[in-house]
Amino acid sequence: MVEVKNLKKSFGNLVVLDDVSFNVQTAENFVVFGRSGTGKSVLLKCLVRLMDPDKGEVVIDNKNVLQLSLSELNELRKNIGFLFQGAALYDSMTVRENLEFPLIRHFNFTPLEREKKVKEVLERVSLELAIDKMPSELSGGMKKRIGLARSVISQPKLMLYDEPTTGLDPITSKEISELIIELQKSLNMTSIVVTHDLLCAKIIADRAIFLHDGKIHGEGTIEQLTTADDDLLKNFFTDQHIDSNNRSK
Ligand SMILES: Nc1ncnc2c1ncn2[C@@H]1O[C@H](COP(=O)(O)OP(=O)(O)O)[C@@H](O)[C@H]1O
Ligand SMILES: [Mg+2]
Repeated sequence: MVEVKNLKKSFGNLVVLDDVSFNVQTAENFVVFGRSGTGKSVLLKCLVRLMDPDKGEVVIDNKNVLQLSLSELNELRKNIGFLFQGAALYDSMTVRENLEFPLIRHFNFTPLEREKKVKEVLERVSLELAIDKMPSELSGGMKKRIGLARSVISQPKLMLYDEPTTGLDPITSKEISELIIELQKSLNMTSIVVTHDLLCAKIIADRAIFLHDGKIHGEGTIEQLTTADDDLLKNFFTDQHIDSNNRSK
């Protein structure tokens, strides 16, 4: 579904991605780990050309992303859902309007079809009763669920998540991770998830990579990465542990 080859991206002298290659299979849940500032968000943006890489190749759904025209790119993006860091709901719109927004903007559904999709997706995230509420009436966890619903409402083939559980308490974070995996399965999507959250990764990941210094430093199942005899990985996962212990106190 996704093929990344020798991707490079620098900002001036700062080399952020220095030869990154990986493949993600259809229906696979692929996690990208790495410390803050290692280029995880840059990587996601390069995949869909919200940012242009300097070099390399990105193939999504058999399309060579870096060579697409703008209209071809827009067509491809219709099949890709994003849940980016800090993605917020529109405060002045109801839940229904928030969910309809991507449908109106990118597709030509009739009002009846939109209504059906909104109700279906709300059912999937167990928030049917929130349909006419304003975001300010929802808890943080509920907002996240609606945000998730909004990014999958058009049933994309590929979902990109950037730190989907950041800023959530451990219980909500687990709920969101479980919801992500449920949606993945029921909608048969492929996903790439950037996360710091080991618990989230354990729930979601079929396979993961660890980015360090612009390169892939480790690749495997979460089990393989967390037990690898490798100082960088050991340090990263030990810090994770301390982080999540502190959070739950
Ligand atoms: N538009 C930009 N211009 C200049 N530098 C950037 C830009 N976007 C990201 N960077 C730099 O690239 C590095 C990687 O950023 P990012 O991908 O956001 O890291 P993270 O792994 O935390 O998501 C950081 O040093 C950041 O400052
Ligand atoms: Mg980031």
